[in-house]
Amino acid sequence: MSLPAAPWSTWGTPLQPDSQRLLLLGSGELGREVALEAMRLGLEVIAVDSYGNAPAMQFAHRSHVLNMLDGEALRQVIEQEQPHLIVPEVEAIATPTLIELETAGWNVIPTANATFLTMNREGIRRLAAEDLGLKTSPYRFADTEAEYQAAVAALGLPFVVKPVMSSSGKGQSTVKAESEVLPAWEYAHAKGRAQNDRVIVEGFVNFQTEITLLTVRAIDGTHFCPPVGHLQVSGDYRESWQPCELSAATLQKCQDMAAKITEALGGWGLFGVELFIEGDPNGDQTVYFSEVSPRPHDTGMVTMISQNMSEFELHARAIAGLPIGQIELIKPGASAVILGETETTTPKFTGVGEALKVPTSKLRLFAKPKAYANRRMGVALALGATVEEARDRAKACAAQVKVIS
Ligand SMILES: Nc1ncnc2c1ncn2[C@@H]1O[C@H](COP(=O)(O)OP(=O)(O)OP(=O)(O)O)[C@@H](O)[C@H]1O
Ligand SMILES: [Mg+2]
Repeated sequence: MSLPAAPWSTWGTPLQPDSQRLLLLGSGELGREVALEAMRLGLEVIAVDSYGNAPAMQFAHRSHVLNMLDGEALRQVIEQEQPHLIVPEVEAIATPTLIELETAGWNVIPTANATFLTMNREGIRRLAAEDLGLKTSPYRFADTEAEYQAAVAALGLPFVVKPVMSSSGKGQSTVKAESEVLPAWEYAHAKGRAQNDRVIVEGFVNFQTEITLLTVRAIDGTHFCPPVGHLQVSGDYRESWQPCELSAATLQKCQDMAAKITEALGGWGLFGVELFIEGDPNGDQTVYFSEVSPRPHDTGMVTMISQNMSEFELHARAIAGLPIGQIELIKPGASAVILGETETTTPKFTGVGEALKVPTSKLRLFAKPKAYANRRMGVALALGATVEEARDRAKACAAQVKVIS
């Protein structure tokens, strides 16, 4: 049994039998914004995550706590809730079950195959590099230490090693010296998400800039947001800004790549296409495809202040089968993250008033029920006459806020 996909000819009202129901798989800070935008469009939102009181659960119409890697539990909640839209907002989901459900007629955003391929670095890398011929860093996969050593010998130093199943930089190392080779292998296994030993070893790209090209596939075609530049520390994002200035020729290469990969993944919704740009900004630059999220991207939180429609609103519109129209940059903008410092089940914030004295600044505090070192607990947003000014303001705002226990 399944329900009609968007666009719908009539829109029901939440909590009535004819409502349009959206099941959110992952209720963190990105899911929370998707839930808000969906509710603004009059959808009924059911929030799911592995722990209670997750950010989006705190105001969703209903919520369920379950292990989303458990295919049976996932199937049960979908059959119970009868959602029109199944919206994954994290990678760690039983994606083979999503494929079965989609085959049975359920509507997975953007497609079940997209969530399956992007959950594992191998799936998306092989699609991009081997099927679509997009330029990527050189890479090898390794299951054993011997295969790893062979990959290292083939690619040479420096390289980056990552568990194939991981996100937010977990288990990832950049190896610059021979002495770091073995510790990096051990670290990848200590931090990987699943009982999968496989790693990807990638040649290090000495990029000049890295961007996220937010790309929307909707009923009125494919749309691109102005590029978002970002700064990563230990594989996790700390700051982002928009626009990231690129030459017309480089922007065209980026958009061509983003169009190809998102078309191959298919479906409707917003995608965060991560690209590395190498070479002199005034010369002929090389664009490398890195990875793609088939959903809003953490670095795209800046669009909550810098665009006429945030990445979350764009996602909600696209998946509901609505047209996007014109995406406009309001002004240069920036985001800076607020991280937890120590472990606590009673997080509190100080400095919020001081932080908001920074001109143009806004804060999003995520309301996560637990904090720990380096957990993202909030984000500061700001505008500026230039990207530099916006970045300085966002950082100044974030620096005032402390997470205490
Ligand atoms: N081959 C590479 N060469 C140079 N830098 C790299 C390479 N691969 C990754 N990085 C750096 O590490 C960051 C994180 O890598 P990647 O996006 O693959 O991991 P992730 O764990 O999926 O991160 P996230 O979930 O935050 O997007 C990149 O944004 C980039 O700054
Ligand atoms: Mg990434």
